[in-house]
Amino acid sequence: MKNTQNTGEVNETPSSSDNIKLQFEDIVKSFREDGNDTRVLDGIDLHVREGEFVSILGPSGSGKSTLFLLLGGLYRPDHGRIMLDGRDIAGKRGLVSYMPQDSAMFPWRTVEQNAALPLQLDGVPARTALSMARSALQKAGLEGYERSLPHQLSGGMQQRAAFVRALLGRRDVMCLDEPFAALDALTRQEMQHWLLNQWEQERRTVLFVTHSIEEALYLSDRLYVLSAKPTQVLQEIAVPFPRPRDRRLLLEPQFAALRGQLYELLLSAKEEEGARHD
Ligand SMILES: Nc1ncnc2c1ncn2[C@@H]1O[C@H](COP(=O)(O)OP(=O)(O)OP(=O)(O)O)[C@@H](O)[C@H]1O
Ligand SMILES: [Mg+2]
Repeated sequence: MKNTQNTGEVNETPSSSDNIKLQFEDIVKSFREDGNDTRVLDGIDLHVREGEFVSILGPSGSGKSTLFLLLGGLYRPDHGRIMLDGRDIAGKRGLVSYMPQDSAMFPWRTVEQNAALPLQLDGVPARTALSMARSALQKAGLEGYERSLPHQLSGGMQQRAAFVRALLGRRDVMCLDEPFAALDALTRQEMQHWLLNQWEQERRTVLFVTHSIEEALYLSDRLYVLSAKPTQVLQEIAVPFPRPRDRRLLLEPQFAALRGQLYELLLSAKEEEGARHD
């Protein structure tokens, strides 16, 4: 994989030796709207290596959540393959962990019961699952809240609990769909920092969707920028900043340069969409 200068832009396809965990190959997906087929995804190629943190940035409606629903097996692609560990998993469910935008906790289950759920679904006995959930919640700074109900936690704490639940799902790949979008700015920063620390310890393979350029640059190893629909990958960018990272990174000129480059790219995608509708 070649890194073209300091812009971080990459322009070579992965070779088989690149330790690819997950790969979308030429994915096409249309939906029927008002009697017409609207093509949303128009040949998406993207990949995530083992232990890599990859973000997807793209205009609203470009099909980011659709990509996750395809990956989760809830939709089937019209064309193309979704490869996990070299196997086509299109249409298969339960192979990846998923954390949606809202924390989606069951309100009648305690925080630890919620977190233990994926373990129990995997057949781990309830007592063991609960004790694993408890210790993971404590590590995530939620000690004392294990037996609370979700509504008794702040938005940020609920997101943490949801993240712990996704981690406990023990799937190799975690998909996070705008997990911090509903949070206020300060809590969002705290959660980014917390997620970064957790991830730097765990090194799980992560596919992350966000609307925030800063968030994508701060957290990711690599990112993909999508066009408006019919959606294609506009650019793949390797994020060149070393880890561990902290927020001082945001003050560095190279960070600002990449942020500017991405902003221009997303703006042009939106303008193109606007022009198509005129
Ligand atoms: N089940 C469906 N039936 C019809 N159209 C759908 C369906 N699911 C998604 N779409 C359409 O596909 C497009 C992409 O939707 P999707 O939710 O994937 O976008 P997104 O990139 O996640 O947007 P956002 O950033 O706003 O979350 C939208 O135009 C949406 O209307
Ligand atoms: Mg979405």
